[in-house]
Amino acid sequence: MRIVLVGPPGAGKGTQATRLAEKLKIPHISTGDLFRTNMSRQTELGKLAKSYIEAGELVPDEVTIGMAKDRMEQPDAAGGFLLDGFPRNVPQAEALDELLQTERMQLDAVLDLEVPEEEVVKRIAGRRVCRNDSAHVFHVTYSPPRQEGVCDLCGGELYQRHDDSEETVRTRLEVYHTQTEPIIDYYKTQGLVVTISALGKVDEVTRRALEALNREG
Ligand code: AP5
Ligand code: ZN
Repeated sequence: MRIVLVGPPGAGKGTQATRLAEKLKIPHISTGDLFRTNMSRQTELGKLAKSYIEAGELVPDEVTIGMAKDRMEQPDAAGGFLLDGFPRNVPQAEALDELLQTERMQLDAVLDLEVPEEEVVKRIAGRRVCRNDSAHVFHVTYSPPRQEGVCDLCGGELYQRHDDSEETVRTRLEVYHTQTEPIIDYYKTQGLVVTISALGKVDEVTRRALEALNREG
């Protein structure tokens, strides 16, 4: 399956993507995680992305599209993938369509996670991520680690993302409404959008997502 996951910052895309990718046996490709790995390794790409991410703005398309394309061309993604955080504007969606056409591939679904803004703000405020792997995600109240400040999965230190500050979250939400939401209409014209509520327990949302995807498939 080839799936795009879309939803506002803090909707639970990363949380759901990890579970769905495991169930569907496809790799989870998160452009946010790829950027954060590059930032912690201080690569050229990471240095370039840092100022945009910390300001809550999108990293320029030429950089992002190239990075996403490289990752989608890895052997493990040949049979399908779950994209989390890409595409994030119409030019990126068009670039993805072009890439898929060249490879004679198609998307199966665009899963749209709906969450009210006040819930998103609570989820982001309490989020803690692991220094070793930003896909290891916790929440101080909703999914606390067994030991405060320590990742259950690898023992790494948990920290609050720099772009999770109140001011940056405001910018990220605005960027989502103005630049990312238009891709939902773009994919609606292709008949690919499946919208589900991302409220409720993590497992419930996963169940809802799998049901919605099966229905589509
Ligand atoms: P990215 O990392 O993609 O951030 P985002 O889209 O803002 O999404 P988040 O990671 O904030 O949230 P999420 O939806 O994954 O939620 P999570 O599962 O963590 O991008 C970061 C930056 O990178 C961008 O701002 C941009 O600068 C750059 N970038 C990335 N891709 C780009 C692109 N394509 N083009 C240009 N720039 C790009 O959950 C949130 C919290 O809620 C967690 O604490 C979790 O434990 C908790 N939670 C999850 N589900 C539930 C639930 N059901 N109930 C209670 N709590 C829950
Ligand atoms: Zn960890």
